[in-house]
Amino acid sequence: MVLEGKNILLRALEREDLKRLHKWQNDGDIMRLARSYPDNMISMEALEHEYDKAIKGEDQEKQVFIIQERSSGKPIGWASIRHWGRKAVSADIGLAIGEKKHWRKGYGTEVTRLLQHEVFEQQGLHRAEWWTNSDNKGSLALAKKMGFKEEGRLRDAVFYDNRFHDIIALGVLRKEYEARRRGN
Ligand SMILES: CC(C)(COP(=O)(O)OP(=O)(O)OC[C@H]1O[C@@H](n2cnc3c(N)ncnc32)[C@H](O)[C@@H]1OP(=O)(O)O)[C@@H](O)C(=O)NCCC(=O)NCCS
Repeated sequence: MVLEGKNILLRALEREDLKRLHKWQNDGDIMRLARSYPDNMISMEALEHEYDKAIKGEDQEKQVFIIQERSSGKPIGWASIRHWGRKAVSADIGLAIGEKKHWRKGYGTEVTRLLQHEVFEQQGLHRAEWWTNSDNKGSLALAKKMGFKEEGRLRDAVFYDNRFHDIIALGVLRKEYEARRRGN
């Protein structure tokens, strides 16, 4: 099963994708934006450990997807849906396009649409969440475009590049998602 958009698709993470994740997750530009972590350094073994459960289909908390461009068949990034426990009514969605040449082509919009569809229309959840640091203009623009509303600001919540940065928490409720789908 894959989740298909017009130009990209989301498919399961496979062990052979770890090489690409290794490249993207050791890239300071990507990790500054994706995790507020420009000095992220991760070994292949640590990545194997982190994603082992997801690859084996045993991760109850987090679903991990590879974003693949349909025209080239190439993996271009990763995405996730994280559920917070058994009684969760909400899921946190996240994505990163690791191949920078593919930024600003509408792919992030497509990925977010597919993740929202999954959270609301397949998993029946009540809300979706999106967390980002306040300097991440692209992430904020994308989240707001897709109906997420700013719900809170965690002041000075992370430190990198020799200063503190705020984290912004955004959310969208099922009824807001449905109203947008109906075009209201
Ligand atoms: C954030 C990210 C996923 C956006 O994906 P994308 O494919 O570039 O986004 P899209 O092309 O679909 O653009 C969505 C909207 O955001 C806007 N946007 C995208 N990047 C932007 C930027 N750097 N500054 C301002 N606006 C931006 C686009 O103009 C578009 O709005 P529009 O349709 O009204 O013109 C991508 O830049 C990325 O992977 N960044 C690194 C990792 C990351 O930040 N992940 C999110 C962590 S919370």
